[in-house]
Amino acid sequence: QGNQQWGGRYSAGPSAIMEAINASIGFDRKMWRQDIRGSLAHAAMLRHVGIISADDEAAIREGLSAIGTEIESGEFPFSEALEDIHMNIEARLTERVGEAGKRLHTARSRNDQVALDVRLWVRDAIDGLDGQLADLMRALTERADEHAATVMPGFTHLQPAQPTTLGHHLLAYVEMLGRDRSRLGDCRARMNESPLGAAALCGTGFNIDRHMTAAALGFDGPTRNSLDSVASRDFALEFLAALSICATHLSRFAEEIVLWTNPYFGFVKLSDAYTTGSSIMPQKRNPDAAELVRAKVGRVSGALIGLMTVMKGLPLTYGKDMQEDKEGIFDAAETMALALAATAGMVRDMKPDTARLREAAGAGFSTATDLADWLVRELRLPFRDAHHVTGRLVAKAEARGVDLSGLSLEELQAEEPRIHSGIFHVLSVEASVASRTSYGGTAPVNVRRMAAEWRERLA
Ligand code: ARG
Repeated sequence: QGNQQWGGRYSAGPSAIMEAINASIGFDRKMWRQDIRGSLAHAAMLRHVGIISADDEAAIREGLSAIGTEIESGEFPFSEALEDIHMNIEARLTERVGEAGKRLHTARSRNDQVALDVRLWVRDAIDGLDGQLADLMRALTERADEHAATVMPGFTHLQPAQPTTLGHHLLAYVEMLGRDRSRLGDCRARMNESPLGAAALCGTGFNIDRHMTAAALGFDGPTRNSLDSVASRDFALEFLAALSICATHLSRFAEEIVLWTNPYFGFVKLSDAYTTGSSIMPQKRNPDAAELVRAKVGRVSGALIGLMTVMKGLPLTYGKDMQEDKEGIFDAAETMALALAATAGMVRDMKPDTARLREAAGAGFSTATDLADWLVRELRLPFRDAHHVTGRLVAKAEARGVDLSGLSLEELQAEEPRIHSGIFHVLSVEASVASRTSYGGTAPVNVRRMAAEWRERLA
């Protein structure tokens, strides 16, 4: 038997393998809400311009609403043979309301329909993820304010560099996530045009009102070129690119949690809620959630590369290749929702060991820069000379097995006779962080001010 939708031309059905490779209903059913929303707007417009009657529109509206209820309650008879969500809903509509259902597809193609549905889905996903990003940023800001003066080691090359504060470190991620939000916002603004009405590829001879459907669906206006409308998925690429960058940020933070919870670091502890034990080693406490967040970036940037590869070299306009856009988009968005939730959970859960952080902050001659800066300020040494003197003092302290404040005044003066006891004030980690008051610097007063600014912005 022929196909319900194109049975006129066809006398035989597809092979089982054709059906298996062709069908997308297994995954694109996720877009059912968007598909119904689009059809409602399309039907209202068709009636407005006089293409269908008010009775037809009412029947379509009722039918689609009933279908929504069926899908929600799990009673909708999804069919592989009907390929995708668009034809499943349309066929069911006709089953329920007859003739009127058959008129819905006037001046529309699945090509503009799917372009619309994916846009609506991505736009909804952006709005959801934006809320989650804001929540994570709020969690980080709260903890940053709480630990504005908690000194910890700052690293470069993962080697002790200078003392910083936990608050400053957490606010660094707030900055990154703020840019991630702004990237998603840019993507949303650029993609917010309606492709509905481009029809198959060339537009239509019916007197449709694309401005009306665009407005009804919350778009800034209709897209300007029908070919571009059905051929383009760069809005999805941009979405996946923004998510990939965000996932990279989460991965870096997750890696730090993995390091920090390692007993050799001992910087923070996670509770039972965000760790797992081992089935064989009774002492274990593994940071699985952090490890998984660290790894999730693989699927998200995988989705980006996947879709870029699908779109590359694809001649205009629509090609069935583009059906491959959906699983990556859905998976990336859902993965990010979970990763953001897990990260926010860990941020609220983690218990910093402030004594251990302070001890580590002073290790590795981390105040050597402060010492060199003191020589410049107090003795007017050129910075390069101060760097050399300090380097010799670090070597001396290392040989003696003490830190810089463990050297006596005589030992210091042996390298530079003008050094006086004032120098000991700058060798503590507290003095070091407090001194870094340059804009954006690590000083606790700065951190408190920045945390307050972020709190206000995120309110
Ligand atoms: N399931 C298709 C997709 O995801 C819908 C569009 C199909 N259009 C067509 N002309 N075969 O892209």
